[in-house]
Amino acid sequence: TVYSLTALLAAYLFGSIPTAVWLGQAFYGVDVREYGSGNAGATNTFRVLGKKAGIAVMLIDIAKGYTATNLAYLIGMSVTGPQNSVVFVNYQLALGVTAVMGHLFPIFAGFRGGKGVATLFGMVLAVNFPASMLCVLVFVVVLLITKYVSLSSICAGFTFPLSVVFLFQVSIKSEVLYGMCVCILILVTHQKNLERLLKGKESKVYLFKKKTN
Ligand code: G3P
Repeated sequence: TVYSLTALLAAYLFGSIPTAVWLGQAFYGVDVREYGSGNAGATNTFRVLGKKAGIAVMLIDIAKGYTATNLAYLIGMSVTGPQNSVVFVNYQLALGVTAVMGHLFPIFAGFRGGKGVATLFGMVLAVNFPASMLCVLVFVVVLLITKYVSLSSICAGFTFPLSVVFLFQVSIKSEVLYGMCVCILILVTHQKNLERLLKGKESKVYLFKKKTN
């Protein structure tokens, strides 16, 4: 229907808001894509512009995914069925993934965006709260142990479908399917990180103390 297509377009536009690029340019006069890993995401903003900017980008990017996913509530239930029905959740997931596409290929920043982790997390937060909390736990534990954000993102990405299958809400099979797509998407966007990880050349992120070398 017209409404559902409009919502998908809105989700893409939401996702397209290049938070890292705009925040860097507006407050620091810097395009983060020219420094560090070259990625327009929270991690690289943290790396290039510091903790405050990194956290702001992370929160806004999560909000993009969360809001876009919940645009499903604006569409009449006659179309999506009752909330938490399979059709409704499918629609939420489609909106979330569309927002992630906007984040990866933002129309407002020359189609050069980020890797989609925070925006994907916003989607998971909206569709499956317990699974999202488990993803956070895995992310934080891997980060504290290894100091690699990319590896933490990949592990958290795998946690989503696995936790849906083994712990929460097995009834909604499309969540598992989308979850597997999330894993593949994260692996694809982190290809360069994976190469660096395998060569032992990935940069580490220290949350609590300054890098000494
Ligand atoms: O969220 C992206 C993160 O997993 C890796 O970012 O800048 O280290 O490539 P970066």
